[in-house]
Amino acid sequence: MSRDPRQDVITDLMRSAWAVESARSLVYRRWAAADERFESPSRTAREAAAIFERELNERDRRTDLPIAEGHAEWITSLVGDDPGATPLADWFVVRLADWVVAHAGDFLSEGAGRLKELHETDKLTLKAPEMPAAPPYEAVTTPPVEPPGDVAFRFAILGDLHVGSPAGESMARAAIADINASGADLTIQLGDLADHGKRTEFVQAAKVMNELAMPWEVVTGNHDMYSTEEERLAGREYFTEHFNRAPDGHLIEHKGHKFVLLDSAEEVASPFAPYNLVTGQFMDGNGGAIVRGALTTPQHEILAEVAAPDSPPAFVFLHHPTQPFTSFPPIVFGLRDADSGRLHAVCDSGNVSGIFAGHTHRNKVSGRFGTVPVTEVGIPRDYPFGYGLVDVAANGYAYHFHQISNEDLLHEAYPLSGQIHRNYAGGTASDRGFIWTR
Ligand SMILES: [Fe+2]
Ligand SMILES: [Fe+2]
Repeated sequence: MSRDPRQDVITDLMRSAWAVESARSLVYRRWAAADERFESPSRTAREAAAIFERELNERDRRTDLPIAEGHAEWITSLVGDDPGATPLADWFVVRLADWVVAHAGDFLSEGAGRLKELHETDKLTLKAPEMPAAPPYEAVTTPPVEPPGDVAFRFAILGDLHVGSPAGESMARAAIADINASGADLTIQLGDLADHGKRTEFVQAAKVMNELAMPWEVVTGNHDMYSTEEERLAGREYFTEHFNRAPDGHLIEHKGHKFVLLDSAEEVASPFAPYNLVTGQFMDGNGGAIVRGALTTPQHEILAEVAAPDSPPAFVFLHHPTQPFTSFPPIVFGLRDADSGRLHAVCDSGNVSGIFAGHTHRNKVSGRFGTVPVTEVGIPRDYPFGYGLVDVAANGYAYHFHQISNEDLLHEAYPLSGQIHRNYAGGTASDRGFIWTR
């Protein structure tokens, strides 16, 4: 199932697994107040976390309690404090442990035996699931945000497209039609243009992007790097061919602002096959999501330019959100620590107004470097089906997320997202709309 990942990737996997098991233990402990059958899984998750703590000690790494606590908060934000509040809540929390066993178990130096035993014990507390009906259609709105001054220009942010997946292309087209009518004069796309890194998907993605009526830029995502069809890392070649630049980062100037495009997807194959969190199983084929975010030397050179004294204000775009990344899977789904630290340092120059990330398919202001927000932008294909707009003024900007306006497509897409996914991806009103001032 797994190729041979590098040791630093395995260590991060162990940190991630520790955070998930620790968070599960915390969540079960809270649940146990309402239902005592969760006392036992709270204990087993704690023992599973201890296994990963031993492994980390051997690797001279410490555990990250704030990440575990952040992860517990994330789980709670999806399923609630009361295990009965959200359909399938207990199954969801068990699936997180399925992920841990499947990805990290085989790399434990003490073997996966005890971990698997614990996990099987955990599952005994599960009640047979009753599949809930999809929650009803409910438009996602963003409260109006007043820009902090006269608007000099508007730009759009288009999240992951996943052209090649069932609704990828049609939803992208709907978002683009709306962006064309929005008054935006530039669009930045955040990577995962293709779903399986195939040549045909790149051809279609370029065609779709060319429907934008204004200048646009794209960055690479993990799904763009590896062609599952050819079983090779074809992304660099296809990206260069279809988007007219090598994926080594890119800097453009637009109306007195720098737009910094970082290609954060490492040029490596995921050590794992794709994994289905709903079924708790690996799927056929190559091209899983564990492709870390990392920045290459040319991109660090671009960032040095951005941080230089008297450089104009900059917006930064990349596929991977920054650390500490506390949703799922914690740590390994984000930009690696060293590069996140570098972005933080660049923000400390005072020249950066905002960082925008894709990859997570959700609305969330997930981090802050000084005052600079790191904003994850929801995508057209998945709930809540939309794109971001940014109104730029002299001393700041207003960000606002918009659901696509094509109601036929929305009504078709809505039943595919259950309550837990909606809780995950929708974001709060302040994730969907906020003002930032310098
Ligand atoms: Fe994606
Ligand atoms: Fe991604």
